Amino acid sequence: MFNKLQPVPTDPILGLVAEYKADTNPNKVDLSVGVYKNEQGQTPVLKAVKKAEEFILKHEDSKAYLGMAGDVAYNELMTKLIFGDHKVIADNRVKTAQTPGGTGSLRVAAEFIARCNAEATIWVTNPTWANHLSIFNAAGLKTAEFPYFDFETMGLKFEETKAALSKVPAGDVVLFHACCHNPSGMDLNIEQWQAVADIAKQQGFTVLIDAAYLGFGEGIEQDAAGIRLLADQLDELLICSSCSKNFGLYRDRVGAFSVIAESAERTDVSYSVALNVIRAIYSMPPAHGAAVVATILSDEALTKLWLEELDEKRGRINELRTVIVDKFKEKNVPGDYAFIAEQHGMFSFLGIDKEAINELKTEYGIYIVGSSRVNIAGVNASNADYIAESLAKVLSK
Ligand code: LMR
Repeated sequence: MFNKLQPVPTDPILGLVAEYKADTNPNKVDLSVGVYKNEQGQTPVLKAVKKAEEFILKHEDSKAYLGMAGDVAYNELMTKLIFGDHKVIADNRVKTAQTPGGTGSLRVAAEFIARCNAEATIWVTNPTWANHLSIFNAAGLKTAEFPYFDFETMGLKFEETKAALSKVPAGDVVLFHACCHNPSGMDLNIEQWQAVADIAKQQGFTVLIDAAYLGFGEGIEQDAAGIRLLADQLDELLICSSCSKNFGLYRDRVGAFSVIAESAERTDVSYSVALNVIRAIYSMPPAHGAAVVATILSDEALTKLWLEELDEKRGRINELRTVIVDKFKEKNVPGDYAFIAEQHGMFSFLGIDKEAINELKTEYGIYIVGSSRVNIAGVNASNADYIAESLAKVLSK
């Protein structure tokens, strides 16, 4: 049976991490996978996380099963983090289940959507995170793209976005990124979120939000503003969130799936379906990472410490955006990169072609994703000159 299998190409993002590790170039730079790095190029465990882990080690008293929804306290705290004081909570119209990371959450969303409408098409921004299509296709759903990022202006093409969404039928699902759009760094402003809400109401499609970077754009409240606006106005909404980046819990796989339905009763029914989906995929999520998040979010001092650490990361990324633009100018990198300073989150496109991307990798050991996406946080004082000089050489040919 196995002899029928054909090899599958390596993952466009995680495959590069393996290549980078194997590279012996002493100057190599990893600007590929979306992992935050500090000025020393490290990804240390957050202090708030370490403190929470000490607490858990001391107080954890059982390893018995938690149930399909995972950690109930975590689910409530994540709901509060995403929605603040929004009335959907008081109205019992939102329910959250812990999931294994953001990817796990998206897969739960995909299977949940398939139970609602197996014929649904999932509409994703062009471009989007490389794994989105695989996740929805793996659940047997069709996918399609709508215009979002303009490679000519390196900004949004929102008029085209609206025109395309105005043709999406009821029963389909449109996926947006809450903030820090991956891979472009271009986010919707509040007027644009309002336009999305208006078109969703007019067309009757369902909106799904991927919230993988809450806190990395402008702060938790600002980054969740689009979600909260949609929750004000739409009867139904799905949110897939992740604690990989904002809590730095990448390998612990901590995420959440939240569902909003038109009434408390419909939310309960929807949630029962989500739990049934979870039972059939992985039974229940791993406990540790969610216990860490719950410990932090239920303690005032730990929450304060975590928010300070998050502010520091966001501040560093935002400063780096300006550093990169200035450095590219200083080293005469051909092109105008001012747009990088206007974008948000961990990623921006360089807008360079495949040949240049490959040359950066093979000649200079600089790894960026094949779409020309760079992880801004991978830049630091000791590699900024090297990156800019290498890029200038590659692009000046
Ligand atoms: C990324 O986009 O680099 C991250 O979300 C990591 C991943 O799983 O692809």
